[in-house]
Amino acid sequence: MEIKEAKKRIKKLRLKIDKIRYHYHVLDELIVPEGVKDSLQHELQELEQEYPQLITADSPTQRVGGKPLAKFEKVTHSKAMLSLNDAFSEEELIAWEERIKKLAPEEKFDYFAELKIDGFAVTLIYENGILKTGATRGNGFVGENITQNLKTIESIPLRLNEVKGVDTRKRIEVRGEIFMSKKEFEGINQEQKKKGLPIYANPRNLAAGSVRQLDPKITASRNLDSYMYELVTDLGQKTHEEKHEIIKKLGFKTSKYIKYAKNLGEVFDYFNYWEKHRKELPFLIDGVVVIVNNLKLEDKLGTVGKAPRWSVALKFSPEQVTTILEDIRVSLGRTGALTPYAVLKPVRVAGSTISRATLHNEDEIKRKDLKIGDTVIIQKAGDVIPEVVAPIKELRTGKEKEFKMPRFCPICGGKVLRPAGEAVARCANTKCYAIEREKIIHFVSKEAFDIIGLGEQIIDRFLEEKLISDPADLFSLEVSDLEILERFGKKSAENIINSIKNRKIVTLPRFIFALGI
Ligand code: IVH
Repeated sequence: MEIKEAKKRIKKLRLKIDKIRYHYHVLDELIVPEGVKDSLQHELQELEQEYPQLITADSPTQRVGGKPLAKFEKVTHSKAMLSLNDAFSEEELIAWEERIKKLAPEEKFDYFAELKIDGFAVTLIYENGILKTGATRGNGFVGENITQNLKTIESIPLRLNEVKGVDTRKRIEVRGEIFMSKKEFEGINQEQKKKGLPIYANPRNLAAGSVRQLDPKITASRNLDSYMYELVTDLGQKTHEEKHEIIKKLGFKTSKYIKYAKNLGEVFDYFNYWEKHRKELPFLIDGVVVIVNNLKLEDKLGTVGKAPRWSVALKFSPEQVTTILEDIRVSLGRTGALTPYAVLKPVRVAGSTISRATLHNEDEIKRKDLKIGDTVIIQKAGDVIPEVVAPIKELRTGKEKEFKMPRFCPICGGKVLRPAGEAVARCANTKCYAIEREKIIHFVSKEAFDIIGLGEQIIDRFLEEKLISDPADLFSLEVSDLEILERFGKKSAENIINSIKNRKIVTLPRFIFALGI
């Protein structure tokens, strides 16, 4: 092929390859069958080999072109790469808002919230639209030049898109996070295991280690991904939200899980949603970043040390924490089973405050070697029921007490029996008040008779007043029985009687379930 013709062909190939890359790695869309990009890339490589004078820095062939380095050069950041102060609760976030509002009392505050990706911060500098330098954060002021490695990440454009109103010839700096998906991380660890090599601790460390390799071929093999969230250069943006829009138009991958929030209430909704649903994401996050949306306020609020006042990281509560096992008590189920449970010093874990956790049975307590007064590790993952994992025996003082299953029912005083070979201890009194109570609660529950408005407190009242002693008694109650009770008006008496009457007939499966069969 003549050089003139080759030049034209090369240009077209580059555009097409880049378009496929953009759709696949930035937008998550496959627009041509897999393999097409590789064969176009192969053709481009051959042409460039024939005419090396036509190779340019933004050619897709240059993503893995670099030779291993002896060391990384230093890069001084045009503007410091800041870190964020953490907040661990809604109260702390509200206190943050109060502080910043005092500094700018005449301003209206709205926010932008995004996921705090557990990755590695980088900055990317484009000149004449072409990626010139990519660097690590380092100490915030001076980082390391890792351009060769960042070029291997397919979601990072080597050339910026043309955007209306943006002069892409000028130096443009964008920042964001490099990370590894959970799937990629697991795949690499499986390979390590197969080869008998040590496994990596977490995706964050592996991503950080991968971009700091002197040989870009290693980085290229790691399938890293990126999300850009910060536009350093002034391209006319007035809000943080607009930064995202511009960055996206320039061709970067931006997070789709972002949220404009007109107040902190909306920030909390976003935070609570992601605290519950973070497991569904393909990458790890450790909180949400909250940013004052109006950029004018950035200057007004300024920074303290290495952290800005206009942004804060609201961190998820950890899934494992320690607390004190204050007591072990037993609860009585409707089958008469006595189940020990932990009374814990209240502690925040995975988004909720925990003060109780079931301990299942006596053997489980023995197996875990739990003693009353122990400092214990408790765990809760997402919506899962909290669990006491283990005591920290090193912290024992000698005053801790052994748990003993009571020999008599704590409710009726009846004998507690634990048949040989069984894990569960039971109250032997079939007329035990608590057993009857549990039976009634079960009987009216949502999956059984589903009697609306008949909560535990009301059932207790009826039992105390001897109006009922078993579930069947509910159906002979009259308004006149209830309205004479203290703090129980005619209206509420009618409501309850009506809802019982409404549920007189239920399906057979519900009926069987309600009887506890
Ligand atoms: S905004 C002034 N947005 O968290 C700094 N940071 O502790 C503005 N991070 O260095 C940062 N995801 O490495 C921002 N969506 C996100 C982020 C994010 C992760 C990291 C970033 C930063 C650190 C702050």
